[in-house]
Amino acid sequence: MKKIVLLTGSPRKNGNSNTMAEAFRKEAESRGAEVTVISATDKKIGGCRACQACYKNGVPCAFEPEYNEIAGEFESADAIVLAFPVYWYNIPSQIKAVIDHWYSFCVAGKDFSGKKTALISCCEDEDPNTLSGVKFAFEKTMELMDAEIVGEVLVPGVNEAGDVAKTDGEQQARELAEKFF
Ligand SMILES: Cc1cc2nc3c(=O)[nH]c(=O)nc-3n(C[C@H](O)[C@H](O)[C@H](O)COP(=O)(O)O)c2cc1C
Repeated sequence: MKKIVLLTGSPRKNGNSNTMAEAFRKEAESRGAEVTVISATDKKIGGCRACQACYKNGVPCAFEPEYNEIAGEFESADAIVLAFPVYWYNIPSQIKAVIDHWYSFCVAGKDFSGKKTALISCCEDEDPNTLSGVKFAFEKTMELMDAEIVGEVLVPGVNEAGDVAKTDGEQQARELAEKFF
């Protein structure tokens, strides 16, 4: 069975990115995957301190116990899917803090080779170019970590929770899930 970690980054449980993440999850589970949803906004994880103490005390991070609780999920996953909105043309800080702690994998000589990955994101602006910051960061991060990018669902023009229902975002998320099988 495929193990997929779905890391989400919006505090709005019924918001647009979480709605697409749910559509992805249901489709992936219907195809037999085990999907573990990790909500970064439910965690208390600060930024990386660049102390280089990663794994030196037997844990991935010397400062962030809540990151240490989830680090193994990324390691054991066959696939890692990120779902978050654009905040200030960029990755929202709570999920970015989780991603920053992937630095510990680099320090320990670990990467995401053999894993598949995808991005689901959205923004208020109608201009698709507003998503280019998160697209670039995602692609370069996964290139560095040696993960295989399966696809991206990038939906502009959604602001209020529920706006995504007026787009094909959920359908795109289901089609993205199909690509993992
Ligand atoms: C702190 C904050 C910053 C935002 N920055 C941007 C932005 O730079 N560009 C944009 O188009 N939308 C921006 N938005 C709007 C969200 O991307 C948009 O409402 C999105 O649909 C929220 O997704 P969610 O429903 O999954 O939370 C911002 C929203 C918040 C709360």
